[in-house]
Amino acid sequence: MSETEPTALVVIGHHRSDSLTAAVAERAAKRLAAGGYRVDVLHLEEEAFDPRGNTADEPDYGNRDKRYSEEVHRHFARVRAADVIVPVFPVWWYGLPALLKGWIDRVWNYGLTYGRSRSPMAGKRMLWIALAGLAEDDPNSRLTRDFLDGPLRVGISEYCGIPDAATVALYDSEGQGLTGSERDRHYRELFARADAAVDGLL
Ligand SMILES: Cc1cc2nc3c(=O)[nH]c(=O)nc-3n(C[C@H](O)[C@H](O)[C@H](O)COP(=O)(O)O)c2cc1C
Repeated sequence: MSETEPTALVVIGHHRSDSLTAAVAERAAKRLAAGGYRVDVLHLEEEAFDPRGNTADEPDYGNRDKRYSEEVHRHFARVRAADVIVPVFPVWWYGLPALLKGWIDRVWNYGLTYGRSRSPMAGKRMLWIALAGLAEDDPNSRLTRDFLDGPLRVGISEYCGIPDAATVALYDSEGQGLTGSERDRHYRELFARADAAVDGLL
C-alpha cells in the first residue's frame, strides 16, 4: 500500500451483519478498494459501539478542546483519517437507526467535527447510502428524500464543513411482492444504483 492512497471510511449502520445494508456496504467497500482506496470498514454493532449519550461526551461550548471519552476519540481518529466517509443504513421512521444516530451524536462532536475556525473536515467527501423499504413512487418517499437532503446532506455534512456530500436512496429494499426473475432484476438494479453512486467517489 502506498502512503499516498486516499482512505475511505465505510460505516455500517445496521445491527445485522447478514442484512442487505451490510451487503451493500461491503460491496461499496470492495469497489472503493478496487478503485485505489485504503478502506476502513466500521461495523458499529460488531465493534460494540454504544450509541447512548453520556455525560463524558456532552459538548462544553465554553471549551472546544474538551477531552471526551476514549471511545469517541478512537472513533474520531478514524473519521479524521478518512478522505471519504460512506455511511450505509436502513431508513427507519424517516430517520437514522439509533446505532448510527448515536455515532453521529457522540463522535461528530463540538471541537472535533465542528466549532473550529478551520474545519477539521475540510476537503473530505461524503456519500450517504440509504436503504428504504418504500417504493420510490410511494407518496411518503418524499419524506425520505427530504431527510437525505435536509438533515443529512445540509444539517450534518455541510454544517461540519463537507459541502461535497451526496446521497442516494435504494428503494423497495425488501422487494415487496417480487418473485423469481423480477426479484433478481430488482436487486440487480438496486446494486447498480449503489455502484453508480460509489463510482462518483472514484
Ligand atoms: C423500525 C423500522 C422503521 C422503518 N421505517 C421506514 C421508513 O420510514 N421508510 C421506509 O421507506 N422504510 C422503512 N423501513 C423499512 C426499512 O428501510 C427496510 O426494512 C430496510 O431498508 C431493509 O434493509 P435491511 O434488510 O438491511 O434491514 C423501516 C423498517 C423498520 C424495521
